Amino acid sequence: MDVPEEYFGREQSYLKHRFLTEYLRAWAHKIGRLVAREGGKQRIWYIDVFAGPWRSQDTDLRDTSIYIGLQALEEAAETLREQVGAGIELGAVFVEKSPSAFRRLKSYLDGRGGAVVTDAYLGEFGTHVRAIQELIGDDPAFIFVDPTGFKGVEMRFIAPLVEPRFRDVLINVMFNDVNRWKDDPRAFLREQMRAFFGLSDADLPSGLGEIELMRLYRAQLKTRCNVAWAADMSIPHPTIERTWFRLVIGGKHEKVLEVFRSAEKRVAGAEASIIREGARSRRTAQGSLFAPEEIASTEDRRYAQQQQADLTRVGAELSKVLERGPLRWSRVWPRLLEELHLTRGDLSKQCFQLYSNGQLSVSPTPGTRRRTLHDDDVISLRASDARGQA
Ligand SMILES: C[S@@+](CC[C@H](N)C(=O)[O-])C[C@H]1O[C@@H](n2cnc3c(N)ncnc32)[C@H](O)[C@@H]1O
Repeated sequence: MDVPEEYFGREQSYLKHRFLTEYLRAWAHKIGRLVAREGGKQRIWYIDVFAGPWRSQDTDLRDTSIYIGLQALEEAAETLREQVGAGIELGAVFVEKSPSAFRRLKSYLDGRGGAVVTDAYLGEFGTHVRAIQELIGDDPAFIFVDPTGFKGVEMRFIAPLVEPRFRDVLINVMFNDVNRWKDDPRAFLREQMRAFFGLSDADLPSGLGEIELMRLYRAQLKTRCNVAWAADMSIPHPTIERTWFRLVIGGKHEKVLEVFRSAEKRVAGAEASIIREGARSRRTAQGSLFAPEEIASTEDRRYAQQQQADLTRVGAELSKVLERGPLRWSRVWPRLLEELHLTRGDLSKQCFQLYSNGQLSVSPTPGTRRRTLHDDDVISLRASDARGQA
C-alpha cells in the first residue's frame, strides 16, 4: 500500500481519510437502501462543517474530506440506482471559516459538476447551524466534524443537526490538544472545555485519562444529541507512540457500531502499521532497504495489543450486561461493541467460546456446527458465574 505523496508528513490525515471513505461508503449504501424502501424522491446529505481545504497538495482536492464526501455519495447513489432503481437525490453542505480556504472550496464546487447539489457557507460553524437545519429539514444526513482544535466545536452546535432520525455523526476529537489543555485553570479554557463536552453547569472533572475523557465525551454525545450508540477509536501519530486524535461515531441504529468496528480493524489495524512504517523510514536520513509492507507486521501493534486486551475483557463486560438476567444476543452485542475494539464477528466468536467453555448458556441450544451467536439466541450467565458476580 502506498500513501499518496500529498499526505507525506501528515500520514495521520491519510488514515483519517481512509476511515472516512470506508465509513461513508457503507453509510451511504445503508441509508440509501433504507430511504429507497420508504419510496418517493429522497435526498441524502453529506454535511462537512470544518471543511477546509486544509493543507491540500492536490489541485483536484483528492486529499480532502470535500472530495471524499462527494465521491462516496456519488458512488453509493450509482450502485443504488443499479440495484434498487431508487430515485435518490444527493446534497452536500460545507462550512469553512478561513476566507482563503473558502475561495478555494467555492471555486472547486463551482467547477465540479456531478450529481450532488452543493452549498457552501463562509464563517464559523456555530453561526450556520440554523441555516443548515432549514436547508436539510428531516432528510437523512451524515455530519462530519473535523476541527483543528476544540474551540468552536461546541456540543450545542452539533446537537440540532444530529437529533433527527437517520442522522450519523463522525467527530474528530483532537485528543492531543484536549489532553494538553483539559486541566488548565484559566477561565476561558474552563469555558471552552465545558462547551466542547456539552457540560451545562459542571466543570470538566480534573485529571481524567484518555479512556475516561473519551467515555465522558461519548456519554455526553448520547444524552445531548439524541444518539443511541457511540463508539470511538484512536488514530496514532505516524512516528510518535501517542494518540493524535480519536474518531468518535454516533448514530441511531446499532448497525453503526458494526460498520465502525469493521472500518477500525481495516484502517487502524491492517493499514496503520504499513503507513506508519513508511512515515518512519521517510523521516530517517537513509530510509529503509525494505518496503513498508515487508517491515510492518500485518496488524498495527497498538491495535493488536488493544484487541488482545479487549478479547480478555469480554467475559467481564458480558457479566455487567447480563447482570439482570438473560438477554437476546441482538441486545447484547451493541453494548459490548461500544466499549470494546473488536469487530462484531470477533466478538461473537469469543462469546461462543465462552459458551463452549461452559461459562455461558445459550437458548435454544446451538447445533454442533455453530461457531458464532445469532441475533435471536437468548444468552445468560451460567448459574455458578452469576453467583460469582453477586
Ligand atoms: C482539520 S481542517 C479540515 C480538514 C478537512 N475536513 C479534511 O479532512 O480534509 C479544519 C478546517 O476548519 C476550519 N475552521 C476552523 N475553525 C472553524 C470554525 N469555527 N468553523 C468552521 N471552520 C473552521 C479551518 O480553517 C480548517 O480549514
